[in-house]
Order: sequence, then C-alpha cells, then structure tokens
Amino acid sequence: MAEKLFDLTGRVALVTGASSGFGVTFAHGLADAGADVVVAARRLERLEKTAEGVRERGRRCLVVQTDLTQPDQIENLVSRSMEEFGRLDILVNNAARGGMAMWMETTTLEEYRLIMDTNLTSVFLLTQRAGKEMLARGWGRIINISSVEGVQAAPEKDPSFGYCTAKHAMAGLTKETAKQWAKRGVTVNQIGPGFFHTELTDRFLSDPQMKAELAALAPMGRVGQPEELMGLLLLLASEASSYITGQTIMVDGGWSIW
Ligand SMILES: NC(=O)c1ccc[n+]([C@@H]2O[C@H](COP(=O)([O-])OP(=O)(O)OC[C@H]3O[C@@H](n4cnc5c(N)ncnc54)[C@H](OP(=O)(O)O)[C@@H]3O)[C@@H](O)[C@H]2O)c1
Repeated sequence: MAEKLFDLTGRVALVTGASSGFGVTFAHGLADAGADVVVAARRLERLEKTAEGVRERGRRCLVVQTDLTQPDQIENLVSRSMEEFGRLDILVNNAARGGMAMWMETTTLEEYRLIMDTNLTSVFLLTQRAGKEMLARGWGRIINISSVEGVQAAPEKDPSFGYCTAKHAMAGLTKETAKQWAKRGVTVNQIGPGFFHTELTDRFLSDPQMKAELAALAPMGRVGQPEELMGLLLLLASEASSYITGQTIMVDGGWSIW
C-alpha cells in the first residue's frame, strides 16, 4: 500500500533547472520512483549529464534546451514533451536565478524584469501550458519551488529584493491556481527550502564564516542537503498527496518557526 502511494511508474515529469543543484536531484529522484523525465535549462551539456543519470535508472529522458525567459521556448518545451511521451503528469517549476536585483534603491527596471521573467513569468506560462495537458487527462501535480524568502524577508546578509518579490508572488499563483483546478484532478503546491549549498548560494555559502552564520538561522543549526527535499517532492508528485493543494511546505531545518 505505502509503496503504491508513492509509485510514479507510467508517469511523465518535467523538471526545469535540471542542469544543476536541486533540479538534478529531483530528476534522478523522480526516475528512482518510476517516472520518465523531461529536463530543461539553458546549459545543454549539463542537461545531458542529468539525462544520463535518469537513463541509468532505467527510465526514458528527453532533454530540451530551454531559456525560460522566452515564451516560444516554453511552448516548444511542452510540445516536444507531448510529442515524445503523449502526456505530462508532473511539473516541477524549479529553475530560478538570484544574485541580482538585490536592493530596492538600485534595482533597474531591466534587472527587475529579468528576475521576474525567470522566477515568476516562466512559472505562469509553464503552469498554464502544461496544466492544459494535465486538465485534459484529469490528473496532474504541479510543484513550485519557493524559498524561506517566499514567506519572509531575506536575512540581512542576503539582500534579495527581486528574488523575494518573485517568490512571494509565486505563492499567490500557487493558491489561486490550486483553487481554480481543485475539482479537476490537478494539485498545485510549493516546497519552501531554507539554505542549501548549490550554485545559487555558492557566492555566500563558500565562505565558512558566512555559512556558519546562515546555518545558525535554522534551529537545526545546519544547511540542508538537496536529498532532504526528495521525500516531500515525492509526496507532492504522487497519489499520496491527493487531498493536498495550494500549500507551501517548508524544508528549512525549522528556520520559519522562529
Ligand atoms: N539553494 C538554496 O539554498 C535554495 C533555497 C531556497 C530556494 N531555492 C530554490 O530552489 C530552486 C533551485 O535552485 P538551486 O539552488 O538548485 O540553484 P541552481 O543550482 O543555481 O539551479 C538553478 C537552475 O535554474 C536554471 N535556470 C536559471 N535561469 C534559467 C533560464 N533563463 N532558463 C532556463 N533555466 C534557467 C539553471 O540552469 P541554466 O543556467 O543551465 O539555464 C539551473 O539549472 C530555485 O527555484 C531556487 O530559488 C534554493
């Protein structure tokens, strides 16, 4: 019974940002659970490497090089997925960028638009397009990767005006879409990670003192390992979460309970 609840055999999952960090872990973890996987990002060689890992697990993998700031490339991503697999069951909106649009006073409109296009507008476009395929089949799981900075302001050492704004707005997108599709078999939820060491956070977590300071923000006193997101991802991607929608669940070592 328990095994069946989390079994993704026969399902097709699309993971954005699968060229590094969480996206690689997610693609491999979903394949371990039985899903075939579509991987998308801009760096093709890195995607091919992720795809190798999916295939080593005995699952099919489609690589689609995609710049998510380009609406025509999002359309191409979904239509290629449908041509290859004929279905899309799980969408993990994981890609994002940081390291810019940090301060309210100095962020330019160009920087603001770039961070919104990457971290928010792509989530809207992909949810709408992939969601259409899910609604047609009456089953779907959309999982948006938020952040502690999607529910509260960033720590002082990590000024994140644009990132924080996009992640907060994503919560509205998640709740409202979840409500609109609640009776149609498609759930929409968010995972809210604390700090994990990936390319995104390397600029501050590679500094031991800063890492210790940021780790101390979580009651557990450490940063997370990407694998520690996998249990929740599988819950939200599978039949096990059939009565959960519109939620943000934090995986942050307790940071958000302070
Ligand atoms: N690491 C953390 O501590 C942490 C904490 C909270 C939330 N998160 C969230 O977790 C998610 C994954 O982050 P991560 O830590 O794994 O970061 P990461 O290693 O930097 O990965 C980000 C991914 O997004 C992709 N990406 C960026 N811009 C893109 C674009 N225009 N088009 C297509 N793909 C694009 C990158 O691929 P290409 O460069 O190849 O395009 C990369 O694969 C993000 O949503 C992030 O906000 C991370």
